[in-house]
Amino acid sequence: MNSSIGVDLEKAANLLRAGELVAIPTETVYGLAANALQDEAVIKIYQVKNRPQFNPLILHFANYQQLQACGLDLPPSAQKLAARFSPGPLTYVIPASYSIPGIVTAGTPAVAVRFPNHPITLELLQKLEFPLAAPSANPSGFVSPTSASHVAAQLGESIPYILDGGECSVGVESTIISFLEEQPRLLRYGGITLEAIEAVIGPVSLPETGYVDNPVAPGMLARHYATRHPLQTGRLQELLPAALEQYAPSEIVSISFTELLNDIPATNQFILSPTGHLPEAARRLFAALRLADEMNISLILAAEFPEEGLGRAINDRLRRASSSASTSVNATD
Ligand code: TXA
Ligand code: MG
Repeated sequence: MNSSIGVDLEKAANLLRAGELVAIPTETVYGLAANALQDEAVIKIYQVKNRPQFNPLILHFANYQQLQACGLDLPPSAQKLAARFSPGPLTYVIPASYSIPGIVTAGTPAVAVRFPNHPITLELLQKLEFPLAAPSANPSGFVSPTSASHVAAQLGESIPYILDGGECSVGVESTIISFLEEQPRLLRYGGITLEAIEAVIGPVSLPETGYVDNPVAPGMLARHYATRHPLQTGRLQELLPAALEQYAPSEIVSISFTELLNDIPATNQFILSPTGHLPEAARRLFAALRLADEMNISLILAAEFPEEGLGRAINDRLRRASSSASTSVNATD
């Protein structure tokens, strides 16, 4: 099979109705979508991604009515967030209902739901009679796609259609917040910042330190966002001396926030936002990781970003991409 890439919503809808997979654009990253209410369709997601079946999927809805039609509801604090941030890059983990297949929730009593903010995908979801289950459209463990061509490069052989919605405007995955406990708990940093969430609902529990091994969120595990070349993250000026002892300057690539380094060629440097704008850096992060990885080099050095706003999501992805995080291998998404 070879995917075609296009903007034909009717074709996408019909393939999904027939139980096929379609890659869809969202504001965060591209998703690999299937009819969430059809087991045989959802199973294909796990097969194509080579994803462990104990790692549950996010359901995507166009609006609140569609969510309720599946017997689901958001608790009051989630509704407050939804009023402010949905559609948008925020995912709510809530109690599941009878109509949600176990293959979507990985047999757990909870389900993750979100309302993606992309015009094409919202229109598609409005046409459909069912929600879409959609993980990021990358093979399990690798960097998430932020353009149709990224999807084609990795999954083009295994899915019939990629709906092209251009480049993703947020560029990192949705923030995941769980409402299963008394106090809402953040499970994954993402496109909606911690600061913005707490401004609406007050303090939330944070991902536990070492949460990459936290079984509550099976997907948030170690080996993830893997590049072909080893990646180290930290302060570039501190990482550089050791790197230069081992490799020639031309064998090293840097990914920085604003910084231009003196010791390696300018053509080996990705500066994610020369003006120091975190949303811009987030938007460009995954494409830079892919481009860096395609170069004929030996090591990727990635800066530590300010631990605030979208910097938290960027740091989280870089830590999980770094080789030191790859020691305890379990599940990935
Ligand atoms: O931005 C996004 O969220 C993208 C786009 C396509 O919507 N999707 C995405 O899906 O990042 P995925 O599968 O790559 O990551 C979803 C994460 C996984 O780590 C999974 O373990 C977690 O959400 N998750 C899903 N259902 C869950 C549940 N019921 N409880 C806890 N974590 C859950
Ligand atoms: Mg993923």
